[in-house]
Parts: sequence; C-alpha cells; structure tokens
Amino acid sequence: MLTVKDLKDLKGKRVYVRVDFNVPQTNGVIRDTNRIKAALPTIQELLSKGARVILMSHLGKIKWKEPDPEKIEAMKKANDMAPVAKALAELLPGVKVSFCAATRGEELTKAVAALNDGEILLGQNTRYEKGEEKNDPELAQIWASLADVFVMDAFGSAHRAHASTVGVPSILKAEGKPVALGYLMIKEVENLTRCVEVKDEDRPYVAVLGGLKVSDKIKVIDTLLNKCDYIIIGGAMAYTFRKARGEEIGKSFLDADSLDYAKACLEKAKGKIILPVDAVATDSFEEKEGRKVEIVKEIPADMEGCDIGPESCKLFADVISKAKMVFWNGPMGVFEQKDFQAGTIAVCEAIKDLEGKAFSVIGGGDSASAAKQLGYKQNFSHVSTGGGASLEMIENDGHLPGVDVLK
Ligand code: 3PG
Repeated sequence: MLTVKDLKDLKGKRVYVRVDFNVPQTNGVIRDTNRIKAALPTIQELLSKGARVILMSHLGKIKWKEPDPEKIEAMKKANDMAPVAKALAELLPGVKVSFCAATRGEELTKAVAALNDGEILLGQNTRYEKGEEKNDPELAQIWASLADVFVMDAFGSAHRAHASTVGVPSILKAEGKPVALGYLMIKEVENLTRCVEVKDEDRPYVAVLGGLKVSDKIKVIDTLLNKCDYIIIGGAMAYTFRKARGEEIGKSFLDADSLDYAKACLEKAKGKIILPVDAVATDSFEEKEGRKVEIVKEIPADMEGCDIGPESCKLFADVISKAKMVFWNGPMGVFEQKDFQAGTIAVCEAIKDLEGKAFSVIGGGDSASAAKQLGYKQNFSHVSTGGGASLEMIENDGHLPGVDVLK
C-alpha cells in the first residue's frame, strides 16, 4: 500500500484527504480538537510537497429517515462543518484554509479551482448528502472528479463503507490515480494490528470491555475469546453477565435480549471472562443531594449499579498487572459523575503501573475521553482515535473497508 510519504510530484495536484473531523461540539463550540490535531502530520506533509489539499469529513449524524424536512435541516445546522474550518485554521497559522458550504455543484467546483498550491479547502459535512452512507456511485463520482490523488486518514471512519471513504478511492484507483494511507492511519493500523495478530511475547493478553449493550459487543467478545487470555467485563454491560450468572442486579441496565448469549458465553469462556464481584449502586442516576450511594455485593431491588466496587477494582487490577498487552474499550462506570469514577480510575492506575512493561491500547470516544479527563492519557502506549473502527478491526481480523479498498 502507498503511504503519504511515498507520494511524489504533488505540486499543483489536488489531493482529496478523507479525515475524521467528527469532533465533539455544542452549538459550534468544539470541545476537543484531538481528532483535528491527529490529522495534522498528513496535512502538513502534503502542504510541504505543494499539494492543493481538499479535506472531507462527516460530522455527527443526519437521520435521513426522519420524515420532517425541518428536523433534517435542524440536524444539518447542528452539524455544520464551518466551526471545524475555523479550529483547523487556528491550528495551522500561516496556511490559507477555506471552507466550502456546498457538498456538490458549482460552488464546490469553483472553490476547488480557486485553490493554490499549499492551500486547504475543507468541504461541508459529507453526511449533508443522503447518498454518503449508501456509498452512492453518482455522489462518489462527483467527489472523485475533484481529485488527482486520494489519501485516507480517517481511521475513526474506516469501518464505514461510505461514498467518501470507499466510493471515491475505488473510482480513483480504477482511473490509475494514486491512493494512499495517511500518517494517522499508519499509526493506528500498526498499533491495532498488534492486538489482532497476537505474538507469544504479548501474552497474557487482557481485554477490558465496558459499554452499555452486550448486543453491540457480541462479535468482538467472540473474537476476543479466541485471541485473549482474559476478558474483563465492566460498565453497564457487566450487569447482563452478572444476571446470567444468577446474581441480583436490581434496577441496573439489563440487555434482556442478550441474556442467553451471555449465559452461553460464560460457559464457553471457561474462566476467561472476569466479571465484577461488587458494585457502587444508587437509588438515583441523577446527581442530586441526599441520593443513596452504596457499595454492595449484589444490587438491591430499588438500586442500580453505576460503577464496579472496590473488590472488583482489586480483582481487575490484579488480572491487568499480569498482562503483557491490554486492549481497553468502554469505561467501567458512569465516570462523568465523581461517585462512579473509582472503577475507571482503578483500571487506568493498573495500566499506568504496566508502563514500560506491557503494551496498552485504549480505543473509543468514551474511554479515550475518560482517560484524558482523569489524567491518564499519556500512560497508554496508544490512544486510538476510533472506537467503532478499532473494535471492528479486531472483530474482522484486521480488515477495515476503508483500508482494504486501498490495497
Ligand atoms: C466515530 O466517532 O466513531 C467516527 O467518527 C464514526 O462516526 P459514526 O459512528 O457516526 O459513523
């Protein structure tokens, strides 16, 4: 596969870069520019080679099934890319960054034609187009016609076979134009491949999974059961497994449809799955004065578990302390609330103690932002920018549509 480093003679060339600028934002205020920063090495390399850089990304979700056109317009407005262009320009002083509010038509072709060498044009949210998520060939053709070269640097979106991630490079490749991986992709693929193609020296290999629904993680649990030595399960998902083990979970979240799967999985796992043995439970999820917050073994009928308890913290830390490799996706509890942070902190601490002794990867928006918020980001060997993408890469034995298309 070509990489951005291999690309030569880019002076005057229009390079279409699919980035993942799906950044957390409220009313146009970007709360975390990490994903933009992560794409800068690729962008800077292309600029230094004299390319005319066209950046395309999705932002948030536009639910096209919504029948009310006004609601669609409101979703579009809430996910306008213009503030991202501003944030990008601030991160690249001295570089001309323009923004095009259109996703096709004369406005877009003119904006591309107006680009000079070493300048950037950021396109409007690709999901403003209904055909994006369907990989509509006509839409892909429109975007492909803007470019001489394609670079994929959107690791967080590489599990989506959309027009901007798969359609465009397929067309350009067929036309004999160069298609390449960006620096962020190279780093992500290298680090996650280590979690997929497990070497003996990386054992024991421990996966730590959290998250809400078992049903979202069935495929990854199955794959990890074959690859890992232990799977630690925390977060809300753990209550479905604890119920399957015959324990009381009170009002905790139960993914009832996955109960049979959880039972079968525990049997098949033969001790590989490590579950919490206690919990921090509350009678009110809402943070209000006077609510009950207690450490319990099983969860009383009027309470719900919101974090793993201290014994589980010790149990999990002990398993992690023996690991040579850790892959972590999903916080252990409602870490946004102080009362329920201890489990996620305990896992962070256990991974911190492994520094220099083991390889650790954390993936997923929630987990990565938990690690950052709690001050442990620097203690991981690799913090992935992609949650869904890192899980799917593990599930599918290293394959991602947005990478495979470049091969
Ligand atoms: C992410 O945030 O995980 C990626 O940007 C993909 O977003 P999506 O799940 O909306 O496709």
